[in-house]
Formats: sequence, structure tokens, C-alpha cells
Amino acid sequence: MYILANLFVLFLFQSRTAAQNCSVMACSSSSIPVRFPFRLEDRWQPESCGYPGFNLSCDDLGRTIMRLPYSGEFFVREINFPVQQIQLYDPGDCLPKRLLQLNLSDSPFSTTYYENFTFLDCPVNLTSRYSAIGCLSNSTRTVLASSDESFVKSMATVCSIIVSRPIPISWPIQYDQGPPDFLNQDLQLSWFTPDCIDCEMEGGVCGFASNSSQNIGCFRIPAKGRMRKGLLVFGIVCLTITLPAIFSSLGIGVFICCTDRRRSTDPAAVIPQPSIVAVGLDDSTIESFTKIVLGESLRLTGPNDNICPICLAEYRPKEILRCIPACGHCFHAECIDEWLKMSSKCPVCRNSASPVPPNDT
Ligand SMILES: *[C@@H]1O[C@H](CO)[C@@H](O)[C@H](O)[C@H]1NC(C)=O
Ligand SMILES: *[C@@H]1O[C@H](CO)[C@@H](O)[C@H](O)[C@H]1NC(C)=O
Ligand SMILES: *[C@@H]1O[C@H](CO)[C@@H](O)[C@H](O)[C@H]1NC(C)=O
Ligand SMILES: *[C@@H]1O[C@H](CO)[C@@H](O)[C@H](O)[C@H]1NC(C)=O
Ligand SMILES: *[C@@H]1O[C@H](CO)[C@@H](O)[C@H](O)[C@H]1NC(C)=O
Ligand SMILES: *[C@@H]1O[C@H](CO)[C@@H](O)[C@H](O)[C@H]1NC(C)=O
Ligand SMILES: *[C@@H]1O[C@H](CO)[C@@H](O)[C@H](O)[C@H]1NC(C)=O
Repeated sequence: MYILANLFVLFLFQSRTAAQNCSVMACSSSSIPVRFPFRLEDRWQPESCGYPGFNLSCDDLGRTIMRLPYSGEFFVREINFPVQQIQLYDPGDCLPKRLLQLNLSDSPFSTTYYENFTFLDCPVNLTSRYSAIGCLSNSTRTVLASSDESFVKSMATVCSIIVSRPIPISWPIQYDQGPPDFLNQDLQLSWFTPDCIDCEMEGGVCGFASNSSQNIGCFRIPAKGRMRKGLLVFGIVCLTITLPAIFSSLGIGVFICCTDRRRSTDPAAVIPQPSIVAVGLDDSTIESFTKIVLGESLRLTGPNDNICPICLAEYRPKEILRCIPACGHCFHAECIDEWLKMSSKCPVCRNSASPVPPNDT
């Protein structure tokens, strides 16, 4: 099956021909690679190598710059092509200040979550207990930001409210994890057009199909690394989906029983369904599941350890995970997305990952 899957993917690659080549560019040898839909406007990339609204430029130190129409310049930390997200940071090192004025109108980018934040101007000695926004504070005043209304109310007698407004955040705040420090993290934006997720997952690279049209095509990428990763994930997904199906249809439930301790408490569920037909979730459902970016602490909540159960690779800082809301299990986004396209069950606990209850059980 693994070999078959690989042959299938190879066939996909070969059935597509590159109508044009846009080489991967970077501002300097140590900068992030830039390719479609992004384009470095001050390098030698022709306009057809980028999608409208995806211009990037370089500064003298080789840093990559993105200009948002109404919010000025940001430095680009990373572009995650397979999940279509870009990580930005503030050249002035004060992201909260930039978030206060962020306006994404007329840009192809959006954030998934907004949270209503109140910024408070407080006397210095009152606030040592709370984490201040350093770059907005000085020796006589401390600026705090909170999305917790009761906290804001309790501070209202001593602090003055600067502004209350929705602030884009990368993922929903979990209050049980203490004060959020995301205001000091990068700004993470997503784009949905052009949609190159499927192409990237196959290890290809997107581009305009021809000079004269705005249609998007999928081309082979010369770099071998990404292609192998695409193959690997696809192969593993195929293998992990079909193996249990084969085992279970032979009446051997061992594989599934071992991977699922919860199920053993439910006697009716010990015998797995001998179902070979894998029906996955649609893209919009998958996309609606929470994505998180791992911080340096690699702290994951819920029933997760620090290895992705699908590709068996350890999580590393800044990697993007997606969690299944129904059971809280998290995986590399690029691994679970492929999985969920083929199966609607969580690979770990095998509970339905679908937000709507399945009608066949
Ligand atoms: C694409 O790149 C290859 C190798 O760099 C070159 O031989 C070929 O002519 C290019 N094709 C087009 C359409 O520019
Ligand atoms: C992007 O580049 C194109 C072509 O160089 C230019 O016309 C356009 O104004 C640029 N857009 C931005 C936002 O810089
Ligand atoms: C963003 O800026 C534009 C131009 O100034 C303005 O028309 C638009 O209302 C602003 N959007 C938001 C959400 O503030
Ligand atoms: C945000 O909070 C302010 C002040 O607490 C409130 O007036 C406003 O309606 C809230 N907005 C949203 C979208 O919740
Ligand atoms: C806060 O500090 C200022 C100056 O150090 C002092 O005058 C004031 O009494 C302090 N307030 C409180 C509540 O401790
Ligand atoms: C602190 O910031 C406030 C508001 O920007 C300003 O009015 C005040 O003068 C500043 N104090 C010092 C010591 O810089
Ligand atoms: C597409 O446009 C580029 C530059 O604008 C040109 O060099 C290239 O030959 C064109 N390709 C085709 C297939 O028309």
C-alpha cells in the first residue's frame, strides 16, 4: 500500500508540467525563502511570480519586509506555505502597539481569532503583580492589557482605560494557563486566496498557470526535501489508515486496542468496526479546527505528549499544530489535515472528530 501510495503521488507530480519557473528567492543567504504567492519586488522576480497583495521587500540587513496597506511595515519571521500562514514581528519590537492600530483591510490576510482587549493605564507601584506591557510603559505609568472583564472592572478605580478594542490573536486564550503572554509573540496571519494547500501538501508549488490568466496551477518543486516530507506524510497516513482497517477486518483488534486505552472501559467498543471505507471531513471543517503555534516551552494542554502520533516526530518550537476540538488531541497541522481528509476519526482515540454527531453510530 505504501508503495502504491508513493506511485500515486509520483504520478501526480509527473502529470503536471511547469508553465513557468519562478525561482525561490531570499533577501540574504540566511533569510527566509520567498516563493509564490509571495514575491520579492526589489529582487529580480517578475510580477507574474507573485499574487497581487503578496509583495515583500528587503531591508539593508537582509531582513524580509511586508507592507500592509493601512498598518505599515512588519518584518517576516516565517512563512508556512502548507498551512498558508505568515508570522510577522514589529521592527520596533512593540507588537502590542502595532496591534492597537492593526487594520487588515485591502490585504489578503486575516487572523482567525479576535479577542476584546482593554488597555489600562495604571500607576507604577500598583501593578507589580501584573505583567506590564514593557514597551508601552515608562517610569511613571504602567500599561496593562486584559481581556478579562472582571479584572478590568477591579482595576477601573485605580487605572484609566486607554482603549477597548478587538485585538487579533493567534489562537483562543485559555484562562487556566495564567496571564497570556501572546501580546509579546509574533503576529500570525492566514491567507486563503490563492488556495495552494492541496498542492503544497503534495509537495508541489503553486504558480500562475499561464501569463495571461489568474488561474493557479500546481508545479513540481526542485527541492527534494519538501517533496520527501509530502510523500512521507501521505505514505504514513495511508499506512496508518489502512493497517487498522486490514487488521480489524481480520478480526484482530489488538492494534486499535493498544492505541486506545479509553476504549477498553467500553465493552461494546472493543470489537472494532470492520470498515475499510474511509470518509474524511471537508476542508472547511478541518480548517475550522484550532491551530496553535508551539512556543519555546513546547507546552501542550490536554491529553498530549510531545510527539506527533501521526508522523512520530517530536514537536519543535514554532511548529504549527492542529487540535481536534472534540477530544483535544493535537498533531502537526500538515499531518492531521491529510489524515482528516481521509478519516473523520481522531487517530489516537478514534472518537469522531466531526463537530456534528455521526448519524451511523
Ligand atoms: C525553467 O527553468 C529551467 C532550468 O532553470 C530552464 O531550462 C527552462 O527553460 C525554464 N523554463 C521557462 C519556461 O522559463
Ligand atoms: C506590488 O508590486 C507591484 C508591482 O511592482 C506594484 O504595482 C504594487 O503597487 C505593489 N504593491 C504594494 C502593496 O507594494
Ligand atoms: C482600515 O482603514 C481604512 C482606510 O483608512 C478604513 O476605510 C477602514 O474602515 C479601516 N478598517 C478598520 C476595521 O478600521
Ligand atoms: C469590548 O469591550 C468593551 C468594553 O468592555 C465593550 O464596550 C465592547 O462592546 C466589547 N466589544 C465586543 C466586540 O465584545
Ligand atoms: C506609589 O509611588 C509613589 C511614588 O513612588 C508614591 O508617592 C505613592 O504614594 C505610591 N502609592 C501607593 C499606593 O503605594
Ligand atoms: C510616561 O508616558 C506618559 C504617556 O505617554 C507621559 O505622559 C509621561 O510623561 C511619561 N513619563 C516619563 C517619565 O517618560
Ligand atoms: C511570460 O511573461 C514573461 C515576462 O513577462 C516572459 O518572459 C515569458 O516569455 C512569458 N511566457 C509566456 C509563456 O508567454
